[in-house]
Amino acid sequence: MRSGIKWTTGLVVLGLIALGVWRIEVASQAVLTHVYERPRLPLAIAPSAQMVSAGQRLVRINGCSDCHGAGETGHVVLTAWLGTRLVAPNLTVLAHRLSTQQLATAIRYGVKPDGRAVISMPVVRFLRESDADVAAMIAYLQSRPPRANTAGATRWGLIGRAMLATGLIPVAAQHLRTSERGPLTTPVAPLALGRYLTHTQCSACHGRHLSGEADVDSPDLRFAIKHYSLSAFESFFHTGIGQLGHGTSTMTPLIRRRFHLLTTAEVRAIYLYLNHSTAQS
Ligand code: HEC
Ligand code: HEC
Repeated sequence: MRSGIKWTTGLVVLGLIALGVWRIEVASQAVLTHVYERPRLPLAIAPSAQMVSAGQRLVRINGCSDCHGAGETGHVVLTAWLGTRLVAPNLTVLAHRLSTQQLATAIRYGVKPDGRAVISMPVVRFLRESDADVAAMIAYLQSRPPRANTAGATRWGLIGRAMLATGLIPVAAQHLRTSERGPLTTPVAPLALGRYLTHTQCSACHGRHLSGEADVDSPDLRFAIKHYSLSAFESFFHTGIGQLGHGTSTMTPLIRRRFHLLTTAEVRAIYLYLNHSTAQS
């Protein structure tokens, strides 16, 4: 009798586990195979040497290599128990395999040529970038010869699938507001340039309204800026040393890896915008 109950309980538990695994499988497969619309982004690219070098700088400022690896030859961005590995692929190869239009749609809208989502790429940042900046990045990627892969292929194991099914791994295409699309050309006037750079480079961590984000522990930029004179701000973005005379845990590495490539005019434009009344509302 006792062992009969044990058996039944065991079978019920096994059944529940199997049901759970099956539901994870179904839900994650739906995320991976959902076909999104592919918004067309007409980009005219007549690459010049100037455009290619502008693109190289933008690829670095945007941190493509943080995920796609040094030289963007591929890198594993996430591993999880039971076999999950998510690879940010080799862009030196993809740049030749995909058309300009397909690259633009992947970078800006997070949608692959077959309509599936680009998992885990922060495309909302890139969506807000100007056509000119996206075109320059693509021109740079296309200008380089293909190099050997450094990361292999993506594999989804049970834990990774559970993370997909529960939304722990972001899928930008699900929430994209195409109305947030950036301008045709990058603004030149300082205040407009400052607004553009702030909303493409800073709001991912400091929030849409720049009021700070608790999950990454970033401060309200409208107040943080009050502690900085223009020269202290320039020096922060040049060296990574903040107004208190030392580095900070997130900004300093970020500046040393990426933002030190912002020009003095760009850093001044950000400062101007953050101190301007429109950033305060
Ligand atoms: C936070 C990490 C991250 C950053 C930053 C990032 N990517 Fe990606 N990217 C990924 C991952 C992960 C994939 C693969 C996703 C997949 O297979 O679903 C990917 C895929 C791609 C693809 C291929 C889409 C396809 O059709 O298969 C392109 C093109 C691309 N990224 C370009 C870029 C460029 C250009 C930048 C910089 C402007 C960039 N990425 C920055 C993580 C990132
Ligand atoms: C990857 C997330 C991230 C991005 C992107 C980012 N910040 Fe930050 N920022 C932080 C965090 C977190 C802090 C808190 C201090 C730290 O940990 O570095 C911070 C702090 C700051 C501070 C206060 C520094 C101090 O003296 O305490 C300023 C100013 C600042 N950020 C400006 C910017 C500007 C301007 C941009 C865009 C060009 C930007 N940040 C982009 C995450 C980010």
